[in-house]
Amino acid sequence: MKVIVCKDYQEVSEKSAEIVAQVMKDKPNAVLGLATGSTPEGMYAKLVEMNRKGEIDFSDITTVNLDEYFPISPDNDQSYRYFMNKNLFDRVNIDKSRTNVPNGAANDGEAEAARYEAFVRSLGGADIQVLGIGRNGHIAFNEPDVELVPVTHVTGLTPDTIDANARFFASADEVPTHALTMGMGTILSAKKIIILANGKGKHNAVMKMLKGTVTTMCPASFLNLHDDVTLVVDEECYNG
Ligand code: GLP
Repeated sequence: MKVIVCKDYQEVSEKSAEIVAQVMKDKPNAVLGLATGSTPEGMYAKLVEMNRKGEIDFSDITTVNLDEYFPISPDNDQSYRYFMNKNLFDRVNIDKSRTNVPNGAANDGEAEAARYEAFVRSLGGADIQVLGIGRNGHIAFNEPDVELVPVTHVTGLTPDTIDANARFFASADEVPTHALTMGMGTILSAKKIIILANGKGKHNAVMKMLKGTVTTMCPASFLNLHDDVTLVVDEECYNG
């Protein structure tokens, strides 16, 4: 795994945006695999700025997001669809019909998961997948467990993740208990992967991943199976 250590969050955002922008310049109809969470917000702001300056063009871009709460309405301001519209899609020249987030409002979660998996595979996987990392080493909503599901699936959230996400909701009781998420196999089907991390809170998870071994108890460690992964991390997170 390649590691880029940045001095602060601002630099993490800039460096990661540059990597995504390069993929878009090399392939104007690229498939971008996107992530939510607070970590990539700065990267999205930078991509919006580059789009406004005419440096990058989203008109032929397709996007596939990693995950979505389940069940949740796309209009709920805590849904990942809402997050993506607000932080990126509504602010750049993208064709909204080519932006894809698992449908948190689907009646049948398993059927939606199967549809989404088939769709991502039909695209041949993402040209670049952007990832964050959970404090416990989770990726998207693939939580540490004795077994992992490789494909898109419905999953329960761990108390730690519910707790970490509670800050966005009025209370922990309102955080959905389930989610639709790509599996590690779906994620590893991307041609290139960048994983962003900042702050001390992610230090342990990042170190476990950088050990180079693979364990289901740290889903991020599965990225060691891929040969084009770049960690973009700030000094605080890297040094602990
Ligand atoms: C959520 C998301 C993940 C994200 C993680 C870290 O659980 N499902 O995709 O990587 O949180 O979020 P943050 O960047 O806010 O720390």
